[in-house]
Amino acid sequence: MVSLIGAPTDVGAGERGASMGPEALRVAGITEALRAQGVQVHDAGNVSGPPNPWQPPVDGFRHLPEVVAWNRAVHTAVLAELQAGRLPVLMGGDHCLAMGSISAVARHCADRGAPLRVLWFDAHADFNTAALTPSGNLHGMPVASLCGDGPSELVALGGFSAAHPALRPQDLRQIGIRSVDAGEKQLVHAAGIEVFDMRYIDEHGMRATMDRALAGMAPGTHLHVSLDVDFLDPEIAPGVATTIRGGPTYREAQLCMEMVADTGRMSSLDIVEINPAFDTHNRTAELAVDLVESLFGKSTLMRVRR
Ligand code: ARG
Ligand code: MN
Ligand code: MN
Ligand code: MN
Repeated sequence: MVSLIGAPTDVGAGERGASMGPEALRVAGITEALRAQGVQVHDAGNVSGPPNPWQPPVDGFRHLPEVVAWNRAVHTAVLAELQAGRLPVLMGGDHCLAMGSISAVARHCADRGAPLRVLWFDAHADFNTAALTPSGNLHGMPVASLCGDGPSELVALGGFSAAHPALRPQDLRQIGIRSVDAGEKQLVHAAGIEVFDMRYIDEHGMRATMDRALAGMAPGTHLHVSLDVDFLDPEIAPGVATTIRGGPTYREAQLCMEMVADTGRMSSLDIVEINPAFDTHNRTAELAVDLVESLFGKSTLMRVRR
């Protein structure tokens, strides 16, 4: 059973509009698409939180109290669905919400002794800190915070700490990266994150990239997918505030999702950063729904498991 959880906010972003993401996905037919794959779907509705105060950063963070409030709400909602044995699909909202969602997944895994693997599909590494951020926008910081380098209220989500963070770099794979800020680059290397940037994908192809990103999962691994739609090339996904050209094509993105589905392990999903204010019609949410179909096993023909 899949539970859809909407988190209609853009408090972590530098532009307004990602708050419309959950409704864009519903209008694009996410529920019907999942049901067509034979998946049972429960739309849990939206979590709520404070409005976007649209203020400048304070001590390196923009809207920190609001980001904390939204992430606590997301954490609680995602954890409840996991504990009920359902597969939560977090519909953002900007990517700061991955702190709430992945901390809940990490809590759930830690309590059950289950290994965790996070696939982070994004144009950005999202590994900024207050000292390094060029913008103060918290959607550029969720990975660092989940790895223990962030504001204490966010690092502490799920009962984690800087010494025992929600996410260990070795449990993370980043795919599609093509925009990393100067200081952020040093941190990504220092943390030892396995990053499949666009050059890697160009040189090795998407199939080899995904084979590597999915390799070495121990039995019982909880696979979490965090899909920032700016991962996709802006030509096919214009409805994003932080577009970076040179992203994966429609076919490459579909192959990623099909290969995730083939593992049979995906147990939670974030779909974030859809911004209808930047879109043409609703094509970016419609594209995301196409990818969700593949994530949940849609394939043209029946296939022999590799
Ligand atoms: N690196 C830039 C920043 O820190 C952009 C981050 C974009 N993140 C995202 N989730 N779209 O502001
Ligand atoms: Mn429910
Ligand atoms: Mn992101
Ligand atoms: Mn991004």
